[in-house]
Amino acid sequence: MLGLKLPTDPRWVNIVEKNIEDILTDHAYCEQKATSTAISLIVSFPEYTELVQEMVALVKEEISHFKMVHDKILENGWTLGRDRKDDYVVQLLKFFPKGGSRTTQLVHRLLYAALIEARSCERFRLLSEELEDKELAEFYRKLMVSEANHYTMFLGFARQYGDRKEVDKKWNDLLDYEAEIMKNLSKSETIHG
Ligand SMILES: [Fe+2]
Ligand SMILES: [Fe+2]
Repeated sequence: MLGLKLPTDPRWVNIVEKNIEDILTDHAYCEQKATSTAISLIVSFPEYTELVQEMVALVKEEISHFKMVHDKILENGWTLGRDRKDDYVVQLLKFFPKGGSRTTQLVHRLLYAALIEARSCERFRLLSEELEDKELAEFYRKLMVSEANHYTMFLGFARQYGDRKEVDKKWNDLLDYEAEIMKNLSKSETIHG
């Protein structure tokens, strides 16, 4: 599914279920970061008009997801906690060499975003299928549907703005690299952990 080379170990859901407050907190920040990524793409690449237009729409959608998750936290009588370091993202960033042409940098940022969207979507699907709390499962099903288009949008832009062959090769290498990272994860109550 989604081109990912290693599916998440379903036992990850058991870990998550024991700590819904932590997963919701982590998830809220994933939505905040998705919003921030879209804004920073606008700031860094303003001349890519089509991208800018899509990022404006995405900012609205991702911040509305943030609100959905935040509301869920409040519904449970909790308060949003502080953000924590995302080891998955830290490791993922190491795949991309620094520098390169402007187009290369754009392609890297788009592929990075595409991958995070794909993995998040896969995890939301797993939550929607496996959570015992059916209300929360339905909440994740709705989010999964709306996230599914994001990965294809980012990948589509990378292919549109970069060299198609090079982009496909890089995407494939990135998927291999991510599968290696994943082997050591799926052990904590975070969206990517
Ligand atoms: Fe989202
Ligand atoms: Fe998204």
